[in-house]
Amino acid sequence: MNSSHGLPGRFIVLEGIDGSGSTTHTKLLSKSLRKDGHEVRTSCEPTDGPVGFLIRQVLQRRLMVADGDTVRPFAWSTMALLFAADRLDHLDSLILPALQDGAIVISDRYDLSSLAYQSATAPGGAEVVPWIRELNARAMRPDLTIVLDVTAEVAEERRGRRGGSEELFEKREIQARLARLYLEAEALLPGDHVVHVPGEGAVDDTSALIRDVVHRELGI
Ligand code: TYD
Repeated sequence: MNSSHGLPGRFIVLEGIDGSGSTTHTKLLSKSLRKDGHEVRTSCEPTDGPVGFLIRQVLQRRLMVADGDTVRPFAWSTMALLFAADRLDHLDSLILPALQDGAIVISDRYDLSSLAYQSATAPGGAEVVPWIRELNARAMRPDLTIVLDVTAEVAEERRGRRGGSEELFEKREIQARLARLYLEAEALLPGDHVVHVPGEGAVDDTSALIRDVVHRELGI
């Protein structure tokens, strides 16, 4: 299949709610593709660049906004702008050079996360989607977006087992809203190449399903 960006590499994105397994499956997919002789570069958003670093401080509630006598997390709209800025850095510094080199780039999250998370946390809900889309208008389209379908309950149980402190968006109500949005990811990404993979089975089974999807959809 030809890619719309016209570069020799291929750009694959893995997406899902927190605890859906996108980080694990980014690693496993890269391992499998490398075993088959492909050059692969993996990456994630938020990135480990300067804007991504700032975002992680906000997600961990280490960085807050002063608001009168108190402090509060950044507004959803500020988050949308930060994630979009981090994404453009990500494209320039890593994704585009790798695609120019003919590598397969696998990104753990991309602009579907912004469309889902920032609209799920905006008071206006879906009405903010066109603005988030506009902010990301310069974000090149991936060749394939794989959405891991996992219910909010299963994802919460996995996060509980993983331990660590709860990040900004890791609340039951937000995750339930996100799970519904991800089930209809195509509506958030009109014209994109989106495939769903059931993500609640054994890791090895899900990994094999993802590898099959990449082979079937991209011929690699
Ligand atoms: P996550 O993949 O959970 O990173 P980590 O495993 O290192 O904590 O991503 C961080 C959070 O950021 C996650 O809750 C989703 C959220 N996010 C957005 O809200 N918008 C975005 O555009 C992106 C890329 C992530």
